[in-house]
Amino acid sequence: MRRKLVAGNWKMNGTSADLAQIEALAEAHTGALSEIMIAPPATLLHRAYEHTKSGPITLGAQDCHKCASGAHTGDISADMLLDAGTSYVILGHSERRADHDEHNEDVRAKARAALSAGLRVIICMGEELEEREADNTLDIIGGQLAGSVPDDITGETLVIAYEPIWAIGTGKVPSIEQISEVHDSIRKRLEHRFGPQIARSIRLLYGGSVKPANAAEIFAIQNVDGALVGGASLMAADFSPIIKALDAS
Ligand code: 13P
Repeated sequence: MRRKLVAGNWKMNGTSADLAQIEALAEAHTGALSEIMIAPPATLLHRAYEHTKSGPITLGAQDCHKCASGAHTGDISADMLLDAGTSYVILGHSERRADHDEHNEDVRAKARAALSAGLRVIICMGEELEEREADNTLDIIGGQLAGSVPDDITGETLVIAYEPIWAIGTGKVPSIEQISEVHDSIRKRLEHRFGPQIARSIRLLYGGSVKPANAAEIFAIQNVDGALVGGASLMAADFSPIIKALDAS
């Protein structure tokens, strides 16, 4: 019912030489069952599109501005991303929330702008280690979900990524039970807010130190519909086994 999605977030990594990784992935996964998305830095989007337009990879961006156009030096609008061949935009990543002081209401405004431009959004949320240790995870995630996700979404246009901050780039991964608990709780909250039909069609991704070695057990969790992958998405040799694990799940 929900098409699995594996998304690679390159963050601030990648120059033209790295387009070869996208080309290699596109060739290796022509028959992929899962949807594959790669979000390179904005400077590579146009050229990456040339390698992805005939499938199976879709392109994503890592952020967009909340306004459609105007005097915002250095920023990129959702329309510009669409024009570059992008289908998705990642919003509310914890690194943007921390480095650029983005709050739930900013993420929500950006999501509205992206949706009205015709992009799909991957909205990220996750708790700090101290919040988990204080047993506040579900409340934190509930607050981020309520505040960051706009009302006018559909099952096709919204993807949620649960990324515990302490698991990003650290090699630490929550237990299967911990991931399962958070994803079940997100699904329930979505049901409550959007009704069962829409909630059932929204993809929920796990992100944080996903690697070839742990992908299969994470993908076996009910309510995990794929992954948002950072470091292991940079090289086709690492990302490919993760895509295969999702296809096999
Ligand atoms: P890592 O896979 O490098 O831990 O990064 C996860 C992430 O932040 C993806 O958005």
